[in-house]
Amino acid sequence: MSTSNLPPVLALDGPSGSGKGTIGQICSLRFGWHYLDSGAIYRGLAWLAGDQNVSPEDVPALVDLADNMELVCHVREDDVAMVEVNGHVVTDELRTEETGEIASKIAPLQEVRASLLAMQRRCRKAPGLVADGRDMGTVVFPDADFKVFLTASAEIRAQRRFDQLKSKGFDVNLARLLESIQARDVRDSSRAVSPLKPADDAYVLDTSDLTIDEVVTRILDHVN
Ligand code: DC
Repeated sequence: MSTSNLPPVLALDGPSGSGKGTIGQICSLRFGWHYLDSGAIYRGLAWLAGDQNVSPEDVPALVDLADNMELVCHVREDDVAMVEVNGHVVTDELRTEETGEIASKIAPLQEVRASLLAMQRRCRKAPGLVADGRDMGTVVFPDADFKVFLTASAEIRAQRRFDQLKSKGFDVNLARLLESIQARDVRDSSRAVSPLKPADDAYVLDTSDLTIDEVVTRILDHVN
């Protein structure tokens, strides 16, 4: 719990497809707080690397891209976040599995994470911030006022991602999505730098059998 005069933070961490994005945006609108989708930062860098023909293995070039990346994320009343990277609207491009795969490969790089840290901390502004990601409660905002860690079975998360991508018109395969989610879980949780894990003081919530409204209600109860 923060004892400073900094604006309050709700850190919302969890694996891919646990519902962090949807839940985080709803909470930010309910509280009237800012919203940080830190995954969009890693995805934005992944998209930029592809756009600029920078290999995910070329660490100095990635750090240079990260240092100069301008990312703007707007949350609208209809719960849809719009993301711009260096002036390009890339909302849909960032959600593809291909971008997620590249993001997951560059996210373990210590130099890249260090370069993106200040950008994330600058999002802590009055009246408050809902920050969603993997290491919000452990590394980026260890003094967050509230820490919630969302989980759900890999099968449920694959199904949710399938429905989400399908509704956007993407051609997707459920079995392949499940494989990709399981592989990403292993990569995100076993990496040496900022691995995905609940903060010691996090409220851990399994969303497998809960509706979005039920999850939001439990988080609001926890915060209140
Ligand atoms: O939450 P997401 O699927 O949009 O995240 C994309 C990738 O970025 C995922 O592989 C994990 C990584 N990531 C991270 O390492 N740290 C964060 N705070 C957010 C995302």
